[in-house]
Amino acid sequence: MIYKETKIGLIGFGSVGKQLYNMLLENNYPEESIYIFADDIALDINERCNKFNDFKLDVYKDLHYIPTLGYLSKNLKYEILSYLKEQEYNIFTFIHPSAFVSKSAKIGKGVIIYPLCNVDQGVVIEDGTIILNSSIIAHDTYVGKCTYISPGVSVSGFVSIGELSFLGTASTLANNITVGRKSTIAIGTCLTKSIGEGSYVIGNPFQFKQNIELS
Ligand SMILES: CC(C)(COP(=O)(O)OP(=O)(O)OC[C@H]1O[C@@H](n2cnc3c(N)ncnc32)[C@H](O)[C@@H]1OP(=O)(O)O)[C@@H](O)C(=O)NCCC(=O)NCCS
Repeated sequence: MIYKETKIGLIGFGSVGKQLYNMLLENNYPEESIYIFADDIALDINERCNKFNDFKLDVYKDLHYIPTLGYLSKNLKYEILSYLKEQEYNIFTFIHPSAFVSKSAKIGKGVIIYPLCNVDQGVVIEDGTIILNSSIIAHDTYVGKCTYISPGVSVSGFVSIGELSFLGTASTLANNITVGRKSTIAIGTCLTKSIGEGSYVIGNPFQFKQNIELS
């Protein structure tokens, strides 16, 4: 539920920040209640555009913040969320009205869930994770902090995904497997077995790689 009188601070204004900004407007959220904290903002929306680190200023302490950094800045997003929690800032969570989120799912702070996602019973989504359009997270799955779940991902039941991982578009994960933290699962991968921390995997059948560059 978004309360229209809440002032929202978007920290970062790359592709995720711009998408969320537009989504808030499309959902009739008043533009004058959205503040942006980013350097080099191309969009001129007057006095509500601020420098990236200005969210730390006392004058903005009444805002509800959401870090909107993308997958290339997951570590920075993690640091900012930790800072916001330590300093007891209000943290905003966005769930698009067209998404299904089970009442028994636990959704952390600063999470973004985009249109038509399905987050099933008993799922836990930790702070700062983003789930893009039409992804499915099946029952009893755990997703660690600041994980990036691209569009059209299918995660089966009883999966555990370590924090700061990246799941590429249309990747599919079998049930009962574990993904170590900071793993990268490339676009279209079919992951059928557990993988350790910092793994890079691609393909169907999946193969381990030394590195997969995300651009
Ligand atoms: C597209 C992507 C695979 C490119 O990665 P990359 O490392 O630049 O890719 P390369 O073309 O160099 O391929 C890396 C390796 O994977 C292999 N590979 C590429 N596509 C493959 C596929 N479909 N199946 C199996 N192997 C594949 C390549 O042969 C190469 O193998 P090698 O290291 O043995 O030579 C990767 O950037 C990716 O998955 N990005 C995520 C895109 C996405 O989901 N975006 C959503 C944002 S909203």
